[in-house]
Amino acid sequence: MKALVFTKYGSPEVLQLREIAKPIPMENEVLVKIHATAVNDYDWSMIRGKPYLYRLLFGLLKPKHQIPGMEMSGTIEAVGTNAKLFKVGDAVYGDISAYGFGSFAEYMSINEKALTLKPDKMSFEEATAMPHAATLALQGLVDSGDIQKGQKILINGAGGGMGTFGLQIAKLYNAEVTGVDTGDKLKMMKEIGFDHIIDYKQEDFTKNGQNYDLILDAKTTRSTFDYLRALNPSGKYVTVGGYLNRLFPMLLLKPCISVFSKKRIHILALKPNKDLDYISELFVAGKLRPVIDGPFNLSEAAKAIQYFGEGRHRGKVVIVNNTLL
Ligand SMILES: NC(=O)c1ccc[n+]([C@@H]2O[C@H](COP(=O)([O-])OP(=O)(O)OC[C@H]3O[C@@H](n4cnc5c(N)ncnc54)[C@H](OP(=O)(O)O)[C@@H]3O)[C@@H](O)[C@H]2O)c1
Repeated sequence: MKALVFTKYGSPEVLQLREIAKPIPMENEVLVKIHATAVNDYDWSMIRGKPYLYRLLFGLLKPKHQIPGMEMSGTIEAVGTNAKLFKVGDAVYGDISAYGFGSFAEYMSINEKALTLKPDKMSFEEATAMPHAATLALQGLVDSGDIQKGQKILINGAGGGMGTFGLQIAKLYNAEVTGVDTGDKLKMMKEIGFDHIIDYKQEDFTKNGQNYDLILDAKTTRSTFDYLRALNPSGKYVTVGGYLNRLFPMLLLKPCISVFSKKRIHILALKPNKDLDYISELFVAGKLRPVIDGPFNLSEAAKAIQYFGEGRHRGKVVIVNNTLL
């Protein structure tokens, strides 16, 4: 089978499309014929080995996972002796990061718990764009943010994967939603229904006098005090990701803030695939749709990852396995 392999850290050009042995599923695993996968921050960091702290996870001197990719959709081709959830021919999708990486390939064997059934109405391209970013948005707004009807919400980094799902979930609560991002993404954000749009290169939303009930942040580029200033008196700030030099002080300040103020800070640790069946339901009911950039072919994946890393993408960058088309 073909797979995108890297044996040393570097720019996405280190990825090579190689012929490798097709995996055999272990007892709790299923073998999936992969139809589509998507690019995530993890891939960009894993391939470059940067930020360097990530090397504690991905391998100090050289990568321990040689095939990137953590989201996928595909068809079950074989089932391990103890795997009970699926049968051959089932169409599935999921965020596989709790069990490993390696979806930039024609096939992969993965623990069956990493997957859920794909609704017929959802294409393979749509399915692979959903699990990671949609669950980040759902857990950020609902589980951590305790979103309430009619709230005034701001999403920072709103033109990427998490932000575009975040808008749609916030709209289920009739929220008034402001999106912050830049460049070509602003047009797309207007089209999908953000009520207000801020270009972060032109305006600092923490200094324009506006206050929000809930801020959901994909990037955490500002200080904790900046975010607190932009919240209503009992507002919540939820970050799903960002720079360590911003996240670390936030972690230290969090307990003090809850003593002196009603404002709350949450740093989300994603529970992969939690409530993915609910996300499938929202999709089938026409209430949640991924914004797809591409699809690109597996042979163009290095280019697609570079494009993602430069922040030029809109929504989710999807890669299809062209050998299957
Ligand atoms: N909490 C967890 O357990 C967990 C797990 C996995 C991943 N994550 C993190 O969750 C986040 C997922 O976000 P995503 O999938 O939506 O990423 P994404 O698709 O890369 O979107 C992020 C958006 O933020 C924009 N942006 C960059 N700098 C910004 C700034 N200063 N102000 C406002 N917007 C800015 C980017 O655009 P430009 O670059 O063009 O400016 C991009 O459009 C990532 O940070 C990832 O590392 C968290």
